[in-house]
Amino acid sequence: MATPAELALERTDLTRHQLDHLKRLMATWGVLADLSFSDLILLASVTESEPHPREPGPSFVILGQMRPSNSATVVQSDLVGQSVGGVDWPLVTAAFQSGEVSRGEMQVDFAEEPARVQCIPVRMEGETVAVMARLAAGSGRRPGHLERTYRDVFDRFAIMLTESAFPFPDESLAAEEAPRVGDGIVLVDEEGRVRYASPNAINALHRMGIYSQLEGRRLSDLGLQESAIEWSLASALPVVEEVERRPDVTVLMHCIPLLEKGSVTGGLVLLRDVTDVRRLDRLLLSKDAAIREVHHRVKNNLQTISALLRLQARRLEMGKGRLALFEAERRVRSIAIVHEILSRDPSDQVPFDEIVTSLVQMAKDSALQSRQIVFHVTGGLGDVPADVATPLAVVLAELLQNAVEHAFADDSGYPGAHHISVAMRSSARCLTIEVRDDGVGLPDGFDINDTESLGLSIVRDLVRSQLEGTISMERAPFPLGGGEQSASGTVVTIELPAVEPGHPAW
Ligand SMILES: Nc1ncnc2c1ncn2[C@@H]1O[C@H](COP(=O)(O)OP(=O)(O)OP(=O)(O)O)[C@@H](O)[C@H]1O
Ligand SMILES: [Mg+2]
Repeated sequence: MATPAELALERTDLTRHQLDHLKRLMATWGVLADLSFSDLILLASVTESEPHPREPGPSFVILGQMRPSNSATVVQSDLVGQSVGGVDWPLVTAAFQSGEVSRGEMQVDFAEEPARVQCIPVRMEGETVAVMARLAAGSGRRPGHLERTYRDVFDRFAIMLTESAFPFPDESLAAEEAPRVGDGIVLVDEEGRVRYASPNAINALHRMGIYSQLEGRRLSDLGLQESAIEWSLASALPVVEEVERRPDVTVLMHCIPLLEKGSVTGGLVLLRDVTDVRRLDRLLLSKDAAIREVHHRVKNNLQTISALLRLQARRLEMGKGRLALFEAERRVRSIAIVHEILSRDPSDQVPFDEIVTSLVQMAKDSALQSRQIVFHVTGGLGDVPADVATPLAVVLAELLQNAVEHAFADDSGYPGAHHISVAMRSSARCLTIEVRDDGVGLPDGFDINDTESLGLSIVRDLVRSQLEGTISMERAPFPLGGGEQSASGTVVTIELPAVEPGHPAW
């Protein structure tokens, strides 16, 4: 479904190029909202062919809205996608038509009291493409030093907007990482000398070991070996740099050059202490490694158990006990396969198709050398939750083993190759796995619900109780291709309910 912003865009004549310009503005304008202590609204003119229903003349559609994070909002409702009449909003019309900033007061229907409004034309390559309206509560209070400084900087950005100099052609900082004004700002002049540092910026610098008086000095003179500010001022482009100081302090610096008539007049440096974020990143990374290690060890232990069982089996005389131990060994190995894959990628989801490859290899290895069996794997299940993958791997291992063991039991002198296939499908509603062979077929009177032998009891219980699915086993000819089919064979079909990942049932 299209978002209100997308719908609004359809109603304008903006080109792709202009649109990108506005998107870049909206990616960084949180800083502008904070600097001006105001709500910001971005309005674009609506295509001529669709005039506002109530009135003639230009009308506008609201493409975006930003609230300040350091003061109260005057716009309670969500305006994105709404249209406004040019007559109701004369300041917007004036800014749009003249290409110059307009100011005034107006009663906006979504605010309680008249708001102070400043409308700034957003121009690109000399053409007005939108209007950014700034709305603030009309307060009689005299602003303090910090407030005045911030507003001055905002006005410099306003000039840049009208001079087509802001937003910058490419800004690469991810929105969620970008520091906001509240994180700390330092204002520098065109030579990189500090003119103002906000209290939070001073705190961040303290944590980086800089305690000297800042005003009038360059940060590089104070022992901060950063090049971001110099780069930014020299290139007239924004620069983002992560500065690591002392063992454990990381500060993200976002330097935005301030321009007037094409020349750099200073810079705004936003500082954000990301020490905790980075520490958490590292912690998560090491937690990932720990989980991987656990899976690796579980896999190793299972392999040791399986080796022990094999050893013990070899010491027994031929007979049921010996076979049972070999079977147990194989079952343990099929679980080890899942942990092996999880130890490589310890996510909640396991690439099940890789597991199938290993299980097929295991079945191949256990088949008699004298028998020629071709394995076919078709389709796939993609990623499967880890707690589904383990029982499902055990089930599939049993079914493949049965096919290898029972389907071709008395084929002495059978000339050609035998076939075993695994077909997998996943749809929005269920996962289906089908294991077929072209062997002798199930014994007469076979019913999966009545079997008491261990292999199929395990399969039945895992599918029905643990995986909450269904299983059926019947005789069926095997399609050999070219419209031919085998005389006999077995098909096992398993269906599991597919539940969205993240659903509590998984
Ligand atoms: N693909 C198949 N083709 C023919 N018969 C099969 C097939 N799969 C199962 N059977 C029959 O079903 C029986 C029960 O299988 P089940 O896996 O439960 O036991 P098992 O393989 O004999 O012993 P184990 O407990 O070691 O697996 C088998 O003995 C065999 O007769
Ligand atoms: Mg079996």
